[in-house]
Amino acid sequence: MTEQAAPRAGLEGVAVADSAIAKIDGTVGELRYCGYLIKDLADHSDFVETSALLWDGELPKQDKLAKLRTDMRQQRGLPTLALDLVQRLAGEQSPMDCLRTVVSALAIGDDVLTTDDAVNRERAIRLTAQLPTIVAAYDRVRKGKSIVEPREDLTHAANFLYMLTGTVPSDEEAEIFDTCLVLHAEHGFNASTFAARVTAATMSDIYSAVTSAIGTLRGPLHGGANTAVMNTLLEIGSVDAVEAHLDGMLARREKIMGFGHRVYKVVDPRALILKQFARDLAKQKGEPKWFEMSERLEELMKSRKGIDMNVDFYSASTYHYMGIDADLFTCVFAMSRVAGWTAHVLEQCANNRLIRPRANWVGPDDRDYVAVDQRS
Ligand SMILES: CC(C)(COP(=O)(O)OP(=O)(O)OC[C@H]1O[C@@H](n2cnc3c(N)ncnc32)[C@H](O)[C@@H]1OP(=O)(O)O)[C@@H](O)C(=O)NCCC(=O)NCCS
Repeated sequence: MTEQAAPRAGLEGVAVADSAIAKIDGTVGELRYCGYLIKDLADHSDFVETSALLWDGELPKQDKLAKLRTDMRQQRGLPTLALDLVQRLAGEQSPMDCLRTVVSALAIGDDVLTTDDAVNRERAIRLTAQLPTIVAAYDRVRKGKSIVEPREDLTHAANFLYMLTGTVPSDEEAEIFDTCLVLHAEHGFNASTFAARVTAATMSDIYSAVTSAIGTLRGPLHGGANTAVMNTLLEIGSVDAVEAHLDGMLARREKIMGFGHRVYKVVDPRALILKQFARDLAKQKGEPKWFEMSERLEELMKSRKGIDMNVDFYSASTYHYMGIDADLFTCVFAMSRVAGWTAHVLEQCANNRLIRPRANWVGPDDRDYVAVDQRS
C-alpha cells in the first residue's frame, strides 16, 4: 500500500495558486489589495476605483476611471426576467437564496460559452453594478413597497441606500457605506472565492462562478457571520446582559460569531476601521447601546478566550445603525465581494488549470458485491 500524506483539515496553510490580488499577513494584521494597504484604500479610494484595481491590478488613470463610473451607473438596471424573479421570490426565499437564484438567472440570454477575458471583464462590471439593485428590490418587495429604480446621478453606495430606503442618504452615511464596500471587496483565497475559482477552473462561466461563491458565502462560518452577530446582539438585548450571555454560550461550547479567523492571528485591520464607524454612527444616531454591547463583548472575548474580533463583528452594528435589516447583511457583503470574486475568475482564467485535489482513502477495502436479497 502506498503511504498516504495526512490531509490538511480545512486546507489550513495550503497554498493552492499564485495570486497578485490580495496579500494577507495574519501575524501582523496586514491586508493589501494589489500592494496597497487596506487602510490607505479605505481612507483615499472608493468602491468603484477599488474594483478597478482588483480587476486590473493597477489603480485606474482618470479617463479609465471616469468611463468605469459611467458604465457602472448605466448598468444598474435589471433585465425584466430578473426583476420578475425578485418579485416572485421575495416573499418565499431568504435574501441570500434570492440573490443566488437571480444572479444565476442573469446568465439567461448571454452567450455564456464565450468566456474570453474581454467579455468576462464586461460581465464583472455589470454584475458588480447589478447586485445592489437585486438586494434593494428584494427588500422593497418583501415589505410591500414599490421598487425604487436606480439613479445614475448617485454614487454606487448612495444609490444602493437610496434604492433600499427611497431616500437619498447623507454624504457622510454614503461615504461610510462605500468604505464598508471597499473593506469587504477582497480577501484572498477565502471559502467563497475559492469556490468561484474552482467553478471557473472547469471553464464554466462567470455567472456560475459567482453563483457558487454566493452559496458559499452565506454559511455562518463565512459571510453569514455578520447576520449572526446582529442576531446575538438582539438576543442579548442590553449591555448588562452581555457577560452572562457570553459565559452561557462559552459554557455550551458555542462559537461566538464575529470572532476568530483562519488567517489572522492578531486583530483583523478591517475590524478596527469598522469599529470606528460603529462608534461614530452610535453617537450620530444617539443610540449607543449596540456599540457599547459590541465593545463589551469584544473585551470579554479577548479576556476569556484570547480571541479577536473579525470583519463581521462591527459591520453588524454599523449596518444596523444605517437601518439595514440584519438578514440583508450577508447580501451587502456579496455586493462588495463580487468585485473580488470576479477579479479571481479573471486571474484563474488567465492561467487556468483544473482544480482537482484528492482525498486519502479511509473507507473499507475491496468488497464483493452482495445481491439485494442476501444483505444482512
Ligand atoms: C472563522 C473560523 C471559522 C475559523 O475557524 P478555524 O480556523 O477552523 O478555527 P477553529 O474553529 O478550529 O478554532 C480554533 C479554536 O478556537 C476556538 N474558536 C475559534 N473561533 C471561535 C469563536 N468565534 N468562538 C468561540 N471559540 C472560537 C475554537 O473553539 C477552537 O478551540 P479548541 O481548539 O479549544 O477547540 C472560526 O473562528 C469561527 O467559527 N468563527 C465564528 C464565525 C465567524 O465569525 N466567521 C467569520 C469569519 S471572517
